[in-house]
This record gives sequence, structure tokens and C-alpha cells, in this order.
Amino acid sequence: MSTSLQKAYDLTGQVALVTGGARGIGHAIASLLAEQGARVVIVDQNPDVGSIASALGNDSFGLAIDVRDESKVRAGVESIIQRTGRIDILLNNVGVGLTAPALETTTELWDTTMSINLRPTFLFSQAVGKHMIERKYGRIVSLASQAALVALYDHVAYAASKAGVIGMTKVLALEWGPFGITCNTISPTVINTDMGRLVWTGERGDAFRAKIPVQRFGEPEEIAHAVLYLVSGAAGMINGENMVIDGGYTIT
Ligand SMILES: NC(=O)c1ccc[n+]([C@@H]2O[C@H](COP(=O)([O-])OP(=O)(O)OC[C@H]3O[C@@H](n4cnc5c(N)ncnc54)[C@H](O)[C@@H]3O)[C@@H](O)[C@H]2O)c1
Repeated sequence: MSTSLQKAYDLTGQVALVTGGARGIGHAIASLLAEQGARVVIVDQNPDVGSIASALGNDSFGLAIDVRDESKVRAGVESIIQRTGRIDILLNNVGVGLTAPALETTTELWDTTMSINLRPTFLFSQAVGKHMIERKYGRIVSLASQAALVALYDHVAYAASKAGVIGMTKVLALEWGPFGITCNTISPTVINTDMGRLVWTGERGDAFRAKIPVQRFGEPEEIAHAVLYLVSGAAGMINGENMVIDGGYTIT
């Protein structure tokens, strides 16, 4: 790798906030950003988040918060900025995959989905974005999904939440671009995590896998590598983009 490229991917001295980073895709992202030198703050409801985050090194730490609680999210972001002095990178990764046929989707399932997948993505972006605007630099990446782009059975609430994340991100990219902040989304197909396995097991999983041209599900590390590009110095011109990582599912 050339020295200039190495420099672009070196996150030494930067602080990255990763929501839902105690396991799965978020943990793979947190690990790679720490490997590249970032001090990582993981926000997750998992009570072990402190030890999970500190294991990443670079003085990383965790905050046990349920992201549905607005006051805790706002106070949490404030306390992180007080402790670190800066947030350069925000990864809106937290999410749940609750599924049901449209006619059986209850208001509770709908509201829970929005309160974890969509609302916190806005709340964290707003609280951290304000700080990034003051500093005139920031990288925000939010996890959307292939389910926002093509219809999948039983995904009515999930699809709506993730389409919301993509639409919201474009507006943030427009409003905050002038302040040196880029905002992008990543839309994966099924990824081998607890969430992916919950929905896509057995024959249902096999049928889905067969529709993916590369004939497999993705790995959390493959999402982390795309995130690293988007938050790096190499991607300053990528803004408001939705990067689809689906092994080719949506080309057919
Ligand atoms: N796995 C997939 O197939 C897939 C595909 C496309 C998009 N995504 C998206 O990627 C993101 C990560 O998915 P994953 O598969 O790693 O999920 P996961 O279920 O493996 O991990 C989710 C993490 O979020 C935390 N969390 C959940 N609810 C929370 C809450 N209310 N407050 C605080 N923390 C909470 C959990 O403790 C966990 O650590 C999600 O936004 C998901 O929608 C996943």
C-alpha cells in the first residue's frame, strides 16, 4: 500500500462512536476501526459492553444504554464528548429484525422497530452532528438494508425503517456537506450474525442464498471493510450514497 493510502486509512487520534457494537456487524466495525488506530466508544444495551469495548485497546470504552431512551442517548453523547473531546466518526449500526406478514404486523412490532432502527439513527446523528458541525469534520455511516430496496416477505416494518434511514441520510448529507461532514448508508444482504441467523435459517435461508449470485451470505468483516473506506480520508467525495453489499442480489 502506498504511503498516502496508508495515511488515508490511519485513524490514529480519531474517536469513533459505534451503536450496537457489542456483537455482530457493529463489533466487527468497532474492531477494525480500533485496529486502524481509532479510540472506539461502543453504545449498547449489553451490560458487558464495558469489557467488550476496553478489549479493543486505544483507551476504548463502552456505555450501556437502551437507545430507545432519548434522554439517555442525549446525555450519553454529551458524556462521551466530555470524556474524549471529540467524535470524528459515527456508526449508526444498532437495529433489530422483527418480522411478520403485513396483516399480522402489530402496532407494537412497528413501533419497536422504528424506536430501535430509525429514531436513534436520527437522535445520534443530530446530537453528534451538532458537535461535528462545530469542528467542521465528520463521517457518519448508517446501516440500512437490502430490505429497503427490494421486497422481502414479512419485512414490512423493517423495510420501512431502513428506507427511512436511507432517506434521512440523504437530507443530512445535503445539509451537513458544507461543514466537512459526509453521511452515507450501507445496505447489506443477509450477514452471518445472530440477527441474520434468526430470520434466515433452514429452507428459507437456502432459498434466499440461492438467489444471491455469489451463492453465500456475507460476513460481518465484509461490512466493516466497506465502512473503513467510507470513514477514511479516501472517501471525502462520497456523500449521500447508499452502498449495496449484497453479492449481486439486487441486480436481477
Ligand atoms: N445481519 C443481517 O443479515 C443484516 C442485514 C442487513 C442489515 N443489517 C443491519 O445491520 C445492523 C447490525 O445487525 P447485526 O446482524 O449485527 O445485529 P445483532 O442482533 O447481531 O446485534 C445488534 C446489537 O445491537 C444491540 N441492541 C439491540 N437493541 C438495542 C437497544 N434497544 N439499545 C441498545 N443496543 C441494542 C444488541 O445488544 C447487539 O449488540 C442492524 O442495523 C441491522 O438491521 C443486518
